[in-house]
Amino acid sequence: MQTKTTQLEIIENLHLKSKPVGDQIPFGTVMTDYMFSMDYEEGKGWHSPKIEPYAPITLDPAAMIFHYGQTVFEGLKAYRTADDRILLFRPDENFKRLNLSSERMSIPPVDEKLILEYLKELVSLEKDWVPGTKGTSLYIRPFIISTEPKLAVSPSRQYKMMILLAPVGSYFPGGLTPVVIHAEDSFTRAVKGGTGMAKTAGNYSAAYQAQAAAKEAGKADVLWLDGIEKRYIEEVGSMNIFFKIDGEVVTPAMNGSILHGITRKSVIELLESWGMKVSQRKIAIDELFDLYEQGKVEEVFGTGTAAIVSPVGELSWKERTMKVNNGEIGELSQKIYDTITGIQNGSVEDTFNWTVEVE
Ligand code: COI
Repeated sequence: MQTKTTQLEIIENLHLKSKPVGDQIPFGTVMTDYMFSMDYEEGKGWHSPKIEPYAPITLDPAAMIFHYGQTVFEGLKAYRTADDRILLFRPDENFKRLNLSSERMSIPPVDEKLILEYLKELVSLEKDWVPGTKGTSLYIRPFIISTEPKLAVSPSRQYKMMILLAPVGSYFPGGLTPVVIHAEDSFTRAVKGGTGMAKTAGNYSAAYQAQAAAKEAGKADVLWLDGIEKRYIEEVGSMNIFFKIDGEVVTPAMNGSILHGITRKSVIELLESWGMKVSQRKIAIDELFDLYEQGKVEEVFGTGTAAIVSPVGELSWKERTMKVNNGEIGELSQKIYDTITGIQNGSVEDTFNWTVEVE
């Protein structure tokens, strides 16, 4: 917890960069002028929070992050409204999830309320970096790394938390164009009891080999199945997954190896507020293909902070392929996308109190 030095230090950046124009920046490639950092030491707690000019950091080559990957991260966004206000979307949920991931990875928790105040200071300072054109936002990447220089396998006694900001357009090139994905039946992303529900680096890099093969075959991403039977649908890695089957919305139930998506949670709350039934249950890939063959799979879409709501136009598994809604965005996916992005950018009334304004 933040126990000792809670006073935020702000160090001015005298060399501000020019800001990119438009929404064509490849996701996460341009960072803003400032970053946030604070440090942790056993016995002292989290201390020395500061906002300082964006720059490389120096770490001891023996820092434990390099050897055992003890790290967690988050992803959230700030949006510019038509009347130039800046809104964060459910940031409290992100810091709650950060602490959940940290618990799994034996990293000390942060004070969720205090860190939100620091984030607001950072975003307020970088307001001009929040893009305003359709489909754009300022992506926020908080993360914690283990920094103690030691080669023994045990939790680090020192950490660094940082927050970076990056103006972004859509995560998948092509924006709302439905993506083509492939259900992976040989590699495993996560298993029950592992770290699948934590937002930790290894879950993502473990997916690279399968992603590369999928990309080679012209697919945008991989749909992960459970690690034991390779049968039950889990998530896409960059997003949670939903199916509209015969009028009902179905999404895999949380099982310990699926990320607790905040957009997932929001979409469920939204659909329920519209009186729609959402079943969070086990869904097998063969069951899904059978339902498709009976003409019952109406829409498929992914949800995530980076991906927002991403329609799936085609899904393949082994030798079977389903073309969803003729490869076009479905009516429900479009309505969810419009409502979620509308709440995020202030054009739809936020009856859920999900947004937090940055002054
Ligand atoms: C996010 O959606 O914020 C994530 O962290 C997923 C990542 C693949 C960009």
